[in-house]
Amino acid sequence: MTGFDIHIGYAHMRNPIALAAMAGITDSGFVRKVAMGAGLAILGGYNLDDATNDAATRIKERGRAEFVTPEPIKHLKGELEQLTKMEDPPAIALNVRSTELNPLLEAALLAKEYGAIIEIDAHCRQLEMTDIGVGESLLRDTDRLTSMISRVKKTGVALCVKTRSGVVDDEELAVTIERAGADAIHIDAMKPGAGADHRAIRATRNATDLVVIGNNSVVDFASAKAMFGHGADMVSLARATLENPDVINTVVTQTTMFQERTGWYNAPKHICSGGDDRALAFCCLPVKPCAIHGVLKRYGMTPQEFADLKVELSRGTPLELGDHTCFGTLIWCCKLTKPCFLRNAVFEQIGLSGVEYMKLKKQLSEGILERIRGKTRDH
Ligand SMILES: Cc1cc2nc3c(=O)[nH]c(=O)nc-3n(C[C@H](O)[C@H](O)[C@H](O)COP(=O)(O)O)c2cc1C
Ligand code: SF4
Ligand code: SF4
Repeated sequence: MTGFDIHIGYAHMRNPIALAAMAGITDSGFVRKVAMGAGLAILGGYNLDDATNDAATRIKERGRAEFVTPEPIKHLKGELEQLTKMEDPPAIALNVRSTELNPLLEAALLAKEYGAIIEIDAHCRQLEMTDIGVGESLLRDTDRLTSMISRVKKTGVALCVKTRSGVVDDEELAVTIERAGADAIHIDAMKPGAGADHRAIRATRNATDLVVIGNNSVVDFASAKAMFGHGADMVSLARATLENPDVINTVVTQTTMFQERTGWYNAPKHICSGGDDRALAFCCLPVKPCAIHGVLKRYGMTPQEFADLKVELSRGTPLELGDHTCFGTLIWCCKLTKPCFLRNAVFEQIGLSGVEYMKLKKQLSEGILERIRGKTRDH
């Protein structure tokens, strides 16, 4: 029992670490090599119609790996068959591209039959693909993307959309994808130059209830934790697995240990350190000028209303205790990972473990967001 509770539609992930798609590389054999311990393995990208297979052939001719399959659905069935019959496989997703809708619907029905997820590739920026209107070009054609998501979702498949941040407005894109009916968004938070743009993960977390898979430059537990702290439910790795086939197992082990030690593997960073709105649960009594005021303003809430809400939602819980803390109760106390002897002395005194404390803060966070988002979101 690992204590993770992550679902994309009907698919359950045993841990929050995923293998991301790499065309021409990420097939069932590669999953067996690098991702048998993952929570999710995303195969592909597969090309489902003649136009995308022709584009992939042209990409291959210039030396870049691609999957070209004359009978894609038959091929995918074989891949799913192989992986799902293995002992204790990860959840599986199929990253797919198609100019036509019908092959997407066929792939969705196949995925559903095997309990797998469909991931629409709105990410690929190879010109051969964007020229025919698939991959990243979908991000700029919201009508087509919306219609594709809603038609594919009608099959009942668990549905994720792979995007790239910084191409269009990240927040608007996430809301569009959620409203169209997707279950998850997988964001390549690429930053020009190098590294990951965590602001895109935070913007998506704050704007939607989608399951968020954060991607780009995750290579170890520290980079995974940075994604989690900005709102990712899961993280995915692509290039790092080529260099180190054991990297997913290592990150899974360390994330699992962190979850066992803290009780909230993707707890947000404090708001003043760039964390998402879930971190209101860790905020102090808002009595001085700091980053919380911008957040409260966004939700049309006064500091007093916020203080009253936190007190109301903590009533009857051990968070009400803690006379000797900065603000007189644990309601206003910091994250467990921030060392504090005053708070830890209270834990000792009242017999509360760090994990229990974080679980109470997680419940408080969910309660706060439910109440304040209800005021501002119209869906
Ligand atoms: C060789 C290669 C092929 C890729 N093919 C795909 C693809 O077919 N579909 C897709 O959504 N992303 C594809 N990606 C993007 C990766 O899934 C991932 O978003 C990107 O590499 C950033 O993550 P990383 O820093 O963990 O590598 C590919 C990446 C590489 C390196
Ligand atoms: S209230 Fe405290 S934790 Fe929250 S943003 Fe301000 S200083 Fe940071
Ligand atoms: S007592 Fe410690 S944990 Fe609580 S608010 Fe003060 S510094 Fe943060």
